[in-house]
Amino acid sequence: MNLTPPRDIQFRAGALKYLGKKATSLGMKKPLIVSDPAMSRLGFSQKVSEVLDGAGLTSALFDGCQENPAEPQVAGAAAVYADEGCDGFVTLGGGSAMDVAKGARILAQHGGSILDYDVSTGGMKKIAPGLPPLMALPTTAGSGSEATLGTVIIDPDRNIKVLIFSPHLAVDSVVLDPELTKSLPPAVTAATGLDALVHALEAYTAPGYNPLADGLCKTSIELIGKSLARAVAQGDDLAARGDMMIAALSAGIAFASKGLGAVHALSHQLSSYHRLPHGLANAIMLPHVMRFNSEAVGDKYVEAAEMLGYEVDSAEEAAQALAGLTAQLGLPTTLSAAGLSPDDLEQMAADAYRDAALGGNPVKCGQEQLLEMYQQAM
Ligand SMILES: [Fe+2]
Repeated sequence: MNLTPPRDIQFRAGALKYLGKKATSLGMKKPLIVSDPAMSRLGFSQKVSEVLDGAGLTSALFDGCQENPAEPQVAGAAAVYADEGCDGFVTLGGGSAMDVAKGARILAQHGGSILDYDVSTGGMKKIAPGLPPLMALPTTAGSGSEATLGTVIIDPDRNIKVLIFSPHLAVDSVVLDPELTKSLPPAVTAATGLDALVHALEAYTAPGYNPLADGLCKTSIELIGKSLARAVAQGDDLAARGDMMIAALSAGIAFASKGLGAVHALSHQLSSYHRLPHGLANAIMLPHVMRFNSEAVGDKYVEAAEMLGYEVDSAEEAAQALAGLTAQLGLPTTLSAAGLSPDDLEQMAADAYRDAALGGNPVKCGQEQLLEMYQQAM
């Protein structure tokens, strides 16, 4: 059993003010702020820069992160880091900004392309301790990337998501400020919140003895049941936003230890082939994977649905409740409603079968069965 939570977590509304002090304590004098265009448009990138200024630090900005980040974005962030003479990273954004910063952090120390560090080709051994410091300021509540030891980057030539993983990738300090998630639109709040829920469910049902991680999964599921719908309906509800940040963090710590499962193996291909938002892809695939896994872990699905506030008697009813939750939050529940055609399901199933996330699924799952789940989800 193992559990690797971030070394330092600050949580409260207004916690952004701790950023300068934390960055200084990590030895940063000029961090690179890694962010996305929306954060700059909303003035958050500038605000972070001002907070750092106030603590006597300078900073540089890379705000080119996009959903489902690909290799060129990591190279771009690493280039700005080198050109500006930076000495650490502050991520401001959702999972994409954190994934890009984690990748650029490796390149800042070891050089090359981020695809050289693919865990499936022995890349983990190439990442040594002593990477530049990394702080995370999540602005969504979903990916849990602030708590994980991996980053997922698209290889644009092969159209697949590549996992890079190392114990040395741990974020040094996480600042959770619910104020930063207030402006998140309802659809993004829903999709990212469902991503957190899928993390909790997949980690909870993944094989392996880890009651500590299982406890974090339950905490996450309960908080999501209590607060996701409220965070979607009323974006400025800071208590709901705060619950969702803790839910995402808890699930992130849990799945970093226990792994994920078939939902993520399937959803990764939907995002790399069709750029479907990650949380939405998970939400659509979830009920189908639940039905497939039900004989092995049906009781846990019933328990999880009850923690979310549903009265269910079977895994099938739990799967229906979860599909209903996605619909209730205003998201499509089928791949065709999300705009996909069934043209490349076979190739996606082949890639899902090779996806690293599949290893955590509680039931062994073949390529043919993955294809059937895509077909059921159409
Ligand atoms: Fe995820």
